[in-house]
Amino acid sequence: MLDRSRRAAWGEAYVQRFAVAYDFPVVFTRNAFDPENPTFVDALRRREGTKRHRLALFIDSGVLAAMPGLQRAIQRYAAAHADALRIEGDLVVVPGGEEAKRRPELVERLLAALAARAIDRHSFAVAIGGGAVLDAVGYAAAIFHRGVRHVRLPTTVLAQADSGVGVKNAVNAFGMKNLVGTFAPPFAIINDGAFIDHLAPRDKRGGMAEAVKVGLIRDGAFFAWIEANADALARFHPNTLDRLIERSARLHMRQIGEGGDPFETGSARPLDYGHWSAHKLESLTDHQVSHGEAVAIGIALDTRYAVLCGLLPDGEDERVHRLLRRLGFDLWSEALARRDADGQLAILKGLREFQEHLGGELTVTLIDAIGHGVEVNRMDHALIADAVGWLAERRA
Ligand SMILES: NC(=O)c1ccc[n+]([C@@H]2O[C@H](COP(=O)([O-])OP(=O)(O)OC[C@H]3O[C@@H](n4cnc5c(N)ncnc54)[C@H](O)[C@@H]3O)[C@@H](O)[C@H]2O)c1
Ligand SMILES: [Zn+2]
Repeated sequence: MLDRSRRAAWGEAYVQRFAVAYDFPVVFTRNAFDPENPTFVDALRRREGTKRHRLALFIDSGVLAAMPGLQRAIQRYAAAHADALRIEGDLVVVPGGEEAKRRPELVERLLAALAARAIDRHSFAVAIGGGAVLDAVGYAAAIFHRGVRHVRLPTTVLAQADSGVGVKNAVNAFGMKNLVGTFAPPFAIINDGAFIDHLAPRDKRGGMAEAVKVGLIRDGAFFAWIEANADALARFHPNTLDRLIERSARLHMRQIGEGGDPFETGSARPLDYGHWSAHKLESLTDHQVSHGEAVAIGIALDTRYAVLCGLLPDGEDERVHRLLRRLGFDLWSEALARRDADGQLAILKGLREFQEHLGGELTVTLIDAIGHGVEVNRMDHALIADAVGWLAERRA
């Protein structure tokens, strides 16, 4: 505290204060581009109901390859709703997967596409794609004109159940994942179950790890539901997968809406159970292990760790390991056992990087019961090594 005389000498402070309320719909539908389906038009018309909305449409190359008829379907939809929307220029095809986030020139290309279509703050950047494409387009939309309206149509299990319903975007830079990005709540999100049907089995499975994760930290009944439906989920039964996505998305939404820190100003990362090692595994394997696959391993590792440090009753680690295996996850990667020149497990550097991403004190979410997350500020390296050994014993 400055004392009065010094304060007078150095000047007066005025406190600027305002709050901005955000709301955006997350709609669950099927076949959003069936001309009879009003979901997309309704989303665009949410604030301005009568005008003809202009939009730039960005689409994941992997989605286009898997759904060759999609481009025609979108054109037909736009023609059927010409009173409500106009797609400016051609569809912009964005390379799918992590390529979308790690090519430095791509953001510039996305911004150029927005500029060429004269997108402004009353028109839209619409993105159809996996989490990576949504992150890259979301970032471009957030910085173009200091932020234009952004509508997302997530097309993977992970993006529909987790990342796509959130408020963050980012691209990778200087060799670091998600280094450059913003918090930017979208205008609307449309989760279209039909996209999931075209997804590769590996990507269908990957996203389920985030659902298991959010069940473990927030909702034990949901975790038990996943256990009860594990066989159907392992076969990717569409209705069961739809339900998993919807429940997971709503739990993620609740955390952002009611958790008290949507823009992550504190040190905690309550939704990132299993993620300190997952991010490191992704980079150690040069993304050969996908985000979802790495999260499954990270969850198994931290659940065993929670038992080893006495937080979680013995046996719950086996239960989590068994469920993830039944869903089809491989819970071992050679990168877990890799050692740096100093003899330390390479994975341990993930702890420091996890902390550095936010700054502040190291805060890792663990669980003390299935369905209940707790925060710890310290991880014991020897116990982590023991947990890695436990996973090694159980490798397939
Ligand atoms: N912003 C956030 O809050 C947040 C949170 C978690 C993860 N993420 C990011 O999400 C990314 C991972 O996203 P993801 O798991 O959705 O995978 P992804 O975006 O990497 O896509 C995986 C592959 O599937 C293809 N694809 C996408 N939809 C398809 C469909 N319907 N049919 C056929 N192929 C399709 C893509 O082209 C790509 O090849 C990572 O970069 C991660 O960092 C962001
Ligand atoms: Zn994740």
